[in-house]
Amino acid sequence: MMFKGLEIRPPKKSDSIKAYLDFISELIDENAFLLINKKPTMKEQKVWFKERLSNVKKGKEILLCVWDGERHAGNCSAKKEMWKNDQNVEIGLALRKEYRGKGLGEKLLREIIELARKKFKPKNIYLRVFDENKIAQNLYHKIGFREIARFPNWVLHDGKYQDAVYMLLVDKSRGVT
Ligand SMILES: CC(C)(COP(=O)(O)OP(=O)(O)OC[C@H]1O[C@@H](n2cnc3c(N)ncnc32)[C@H](O)[C@@H]1OP(=O)(O)O)[C@@H](O)C(=O)NCCC(=O)NCCS
Repeated sequence: MMFKGLEIRPPKKSDSIKAYLDFISELIDENAFLLINKKPTMKEQKVWFKERLSNVKKGKEILLCVWDGERHAGNCSAKKEMWKNDQNVEIGLALRKEYRGKGLGEKLLREIIELARKKFKPKNIYLRVFDENKIAQNLYHKIGFREIARFPNWVLHDGKYQDAVYMLLVDKSRGVT
């Protein structure tokens, strides 16, 4: 699938691991509102990628990767949890700075929700976001996520504790408003 000249697709075995490493390294340098704060080594990134491919193959995870030619612009994941939690799906989303504010985040999120609903038929689709990440929260709210829980002072970001906010995708069948 294409979006404004960018290719959106699942990961492929032939993908450049270095492209994924460059992407995550840039977000870490930016100190984006993400949990990760340590740049992976090439070896760690290879392990990460192998696990993604394997989980996608096993049907445990959906991953949509955005490519601007050889450049990895961002990705969006939907991960099925395990065991008695396996009806719950957690969403993750991050883009390089230059690809933000153009509707790509919204496109990916809507796409992954549709795919996750079809594939996993989940009870809950949820995500976690830092309290100060208002841009992401605006997007999530627009799509239909609502805050259901908050772990106070949970994440140390930029020398300051942030609440971890849990948001649930609410539809007519769920009673949360
Ligand atoms: C959060 C993120 C994925 C949003 O993706 P995006 O492509 O920039 O967002 P879109 O252009 O699709 O915008 C969708 C909605 O997000 C909100 N939004 C986007 N940019 C915004 C801004 N600068 N200020 C306020 N709200 C904003 C708006 O609600 C917007 O809808 P609108 O255009 O109707 O107003 C992206 O900013 C990002 O990757 N940030 C860094 C990593 C991150 O924080 N990931 C989320 C971790 S939980």
